[in-house]
Amino acid sequence: MSITAEVIQKDKQYSVPVAGRPDFVLERGEGVTVYDTEGKAYTDWVAGIAVNSLGYGDKELMKVVAGQMDTGLIHVSGLYHTQALVELAELLCANSFADKAYFCNSGAEANEGALKFARKLAYVNDRKNKTKTVSFSKAFHGRTMGALAITPTEKYQAPFKPMMPGAVVGEFNSVDSAKEVIDQDTAAVVVEPIQGEGGINIASAEFLQALRRLCDDHDAVLIFDEIQCGLGRTGELWAHSFSGVSPDIMTLAKPLAGGLPIGAILATDEVAGAMQPGDHGSTFSGGAVVMRAGEMVVKRVLSAGFLEHVKETGDYLLERLSEINSPHIKDVRGRGLMAAIELDVPPGDIVAQGYEHGLLLVNSGPDAIRFIPPLIVEKRHVDELVEKLTLILEGIDGDA
Ligand SMILES: Cc1ncc(COP(=O)(O)O)c(C=O)c1O
Repeated sequence: MSITAEVIQKDKQYSVPVAGRPDFVLERGEGVTVYDTEGKAYTDWVAGIAVNSLGYGDKELMKVVAGQMDTGLIHVSGLYHTQALVELAELLCANSFADKAYFCNSGAEANEGALKFARKLAYVNDRKNKTKTVSFSKAFHGRTMGALAITPTEKYQAPFKPMMPGAVVGEFNSVDSAKEVIDQDTAAVVVEPIQGEGGINIASAEFLQALRRLCDDHDAVLIFDEIQCGLGRTGELWAHSFSGVSPDIMTLAKPLAGGLPIGAILATDEVAGAMQPGDHGSTFSGGAVVMRAGEMVVKRVLSAGFLEHVKETGDYLLERLSEINSPHIKDVRGRGLMAAIELDVPPGDIVAQGYEHGLLLVNSGPDAIRFIPPLIVEKRHVDELVEKLTLILEGIDGDA
């Protein structure tokens, strides 16, 4: 039996079947390309779901991780100080609205923690009824029970009801709807400045500004979930910058440690000040190897020319995608290297054909393909993508 066949068979036998994986086995990566066990190359427009922003095999990242491993200090738990943790916390605070950082291990965990921070603030202010959490249509905030409760997709929630009480949903980008759902009992308002899983939907500056005002008026904590859209993906360090307003909390995860598991909650002193020893924690929080990787990634994103490259390549991606002449494309949208084409055919069919053409693609919501590549992707990769997508879409025309 080939290695490919053996891995696929064992996956069927031993893995909990929560993911439908295609019939190839990835073995190594370099730059923006991954290779399977048969040696086939795939240009990666997924980046481990918006994670591998430095691509594969970044020499500096590997050196930093190996260097920290060499100290023997991989993990010490949150019980002890490490230089690695405070250096990443300082770097993130120095480059954002935040005064304090808390580290965890995933996006969902960051959002869980953020909800607790908001609830604790209400609690110390003696506002015991202030327990409502507002999120918005098509949002995705994660799959743990709190994060799931604010992810209003019926198919994700249905088997796991009842949800956490007090989760209320407004309409994304509707100021009127936000006014209706945010009130004195609202502890937290959570929003993605650009929705990643829900179809690459960009919040308007007006909407984010209105949320800021409504949160101020009702003493609610405004949480920007930049787990997918943050840290350079839009060509700005933070996706919300264009709005001119800052949140009280921002959650980060995916790209922050170059592919190692991480989450972060960045908060103002006011919010963080409500948290006391024992209120929150996680065994793996702030592991030294992960922190060193995070510091290196943030410094790279801040280095000269990096964000300009994202912006320029992102503009080119949108321009070239808009040029594809196919009746199946209903819309092209995005910002920086976070883009989507909305289709009138199932995105799964295009993703499957992408594999045959040596492309890794992923859907966003039920009717769009999303492009969230490593941020080091180049214009020549965009040209290859557009050429192959055009062929795939023409094939679909032929079938029709
Ligand atoms: C905006 C956003 N928030 C939260 C999450 C959950 O992150 P994780 O899968 O690391 O738990 C995701 C994951 O796709 C996301 O895109």
